[in-house]
Amino acid sequence: MLLSDALRARRSIRAFRPDPVPEALVRELLEEASRAPSGTNIQPWKVHVVAGEVRTRLEREVLAHRETNPQDNSAEFPRRSGARRDPYLTRMRTLGKAMYGLLEIPKGDQAANWRQWGRNYQFFDAPVGLIFTIDKDLDAMSFLDIGMFIQTLMLSATGRGLGTCAQGAWNNYWTVTRRVLEVPVDQYIVCGLSLGWPDETAAVNGLAADREPVEAFAVFHGF
Ligand SMILES: Cc1cc2nc3c(=O)[nH]c(=O)nc-3n(C[C@H](O)[C@H](O)[C@H](O)COP(=O)(O)O)c2cc1C
Repeated sequence: MLLSDALRARRSIRAFRPDPVPEALVRELLEEASRAPSGTNIQPWKVHVVAGEVRTRLEREVLAHRETNPQDNSAEFPRRSGARRDPYLTRMRTLGKAMYGLLEIPKGDQAANWRQWGRNYQFFDAPVGLIFTIDKDLDAMSFLDIGMFIQTLMLSATGRGLGTCAQGAWNNYWTVTRRVLEVPVDQYIVCGLSLGWPDETAAVNGLAADREPVEAFAVFHGF
């Protein structure tokens, strides 16, 4: 697949077929993703790849914790809620409306919303889940590096017909993830990623999130 085709074909996948993704293939994707650039080549990414029994345990424990400790829905690292204003808020709402529409979840149905967001902690039934961590003494530039790593991974996966969904949801309930995966205390849990074969019959996978035109975000100087 041409890189530009992969860029346009990739979209977040939130329903998967049960077919396994072989460990060798995940290793190949990770090796390709590690070609991502990083400032001064420090390669700060760390990844836990979860499948099988560990993954079942992770899901079970996070979901159970979420039911009894819903207030633990924030990251361990500092996050600001600057995105809760326009233009970001409108974009966020547009996405939510389109997604919940496809899922046939009526506006205001809190119980259904809660259940659907909980699907994040089942990796949307993808056969493989990834959890990304970063050393706590690194700064925002290293978070950028991890973003580049994840996007490269997602494009490598797209090129092989695999689907992915990046999941900030996994920086919530991090105490459980830390315990189950034995993530050292000097690392933050940055986010997760679902990886598997897209279920082409699932309406939610038809979600094509809009993008702003170039004029909305780019300023050209000196042309
Ligand atoms: C850092 C990051 C965190 C995200 N977290 C979640 C998440 O927790 N759950 C989810 O369903 N989608 C999540 N997404 C997917 C975004 O909603 C999606 O990328 C965006 O709506 C654009 O759609 P597209 O990926 O289909 O192009 C996340 C994406 C990124 C880059």
